[in-house]
Amino acid sequence: MQNNKIVLLKGDGIGPEIIDAAVTVLREIEKIEDLSFELVTAPIGGEAIDQCGHPFPKETEIELEDAKAVLLGAVGGPKWDQIEPDIRPEKGLLALRKKLGVYANLRPAKCYSSLVDQSPLKPEYLQDVDLIIVRELIGGIYFGNRDTFVENGERVAFDEERYSESEIKRIAIYAFETAKKRRNKLTLVDKANVLDSSKLWRTVVKEVATDYPEVELDFLYVDNAAMQLIKSPASFDVILTNNIFGDILSDEASQVVGSIGLLPSASLGKDIGLYEPIHGSAPDIAGQNIANPIGTILSLAMLLRFSFNEEKAARKIEEAVEATLLAGYRCKDLDPNNYLGTKEMTEKIIEQLS
Ligand code: IPM
Ligand code: MG
Repeated sequence: MQNNKIVLLKGDGIGPEIIDAAVTVLREIEKIEDLSFELVTAPIGGEAIDQCGHPFPKETEIELEDAKAVLLGAVGGPKWDQIEPDIRPEKGLLALRKKLGVYANLRPAKCYSSLVDQSPLKPEYLQDVDLIIVRELIGGIYFGNRDTFVENGERVAFDEERYSESEIKRIAIYAFETAKKRRNKLTLVDKANVLDSSKLWRTVVKEVATDYPEVELDFLYVDNAAMQLIKSPASFDVILTNNIFGDILSDEASQVVGSIGLLPSASLGKDIGLYEPIHGSAPDIAGQNIANPIGTILSLAMLLRFSFNEEKAARKIEEAVEATLLAGYRCKDLDPNNYLGTKEMTEKIIEQLS
């Protein structure tokens, strides 16, 4: 029998609510498309620290062994801010990504016509905005050497940005393949005017480019890219970048298209795919049924597409989300004066499914 096991890592803050929303959608799509998944829940982040003393505990690791995909809510919150750095909730997420070997983090950002008013940008800038950030996820400054110490009587700290040729090459190939399936345009974002690591990125990406003559490749320094993302967001198709720049630019892209609550992600690399909304745990709104579930529901669509090859089911979910937004339904992040709760929004999306 085909492996159909999905591990749910709800995490902290709004994590449980948005995962529950996505599971409701999944149970419905199972009926409609005649699919069946085994769902298992395990702890991650702050909840795992509370339950097991570690943000990525052994029991969660064991659940992953025979899984096909992981759907994750969010981790972190003020409750664990004072904890020692090595077992912060975020460390659990990074350890999970590393363990799964998911080096390719795909973060699509598309402007829905019904949400044009949501963007701080003028409508004429938003026509045809449909980009995807391919972010390297298990290398760079997130995983480099770091230390904090006292030198000459003052405190000093450093974090190392380090990439090997093979790490760059595999993500570059992923980005070119992604561009081939889209509009054949790839932009490498780096800081090659200053950083050695970025110079290596340029060199390796140019070498990989020789295998993809049909893909138009250009280069932007990250400061300029941050500006162009506001000035002409529609000029981008695929953005390839390192871990830290991808983290920053994906939050920026979310505002261009309306709200960070909308954006999903898929992290791929080996056998198990990891799917999570790009936003955080939003502890300030947790437990109030006001979080936007769309980023997580669209992450579920990516899960069905990439881990189970269920393109039809994935499309159905994406179309249902689009139709729900088009019908004028909003969560609080999109319209603070007239909004649906997390559960009610999910119900509206489910109505559109069938
Ligand atoms: C993200 C988040 C994480 C990251 C945090 C929670 C560690 O911001 O997925 O974008 O920086 O990768
Ligand atoms: Mg981030």
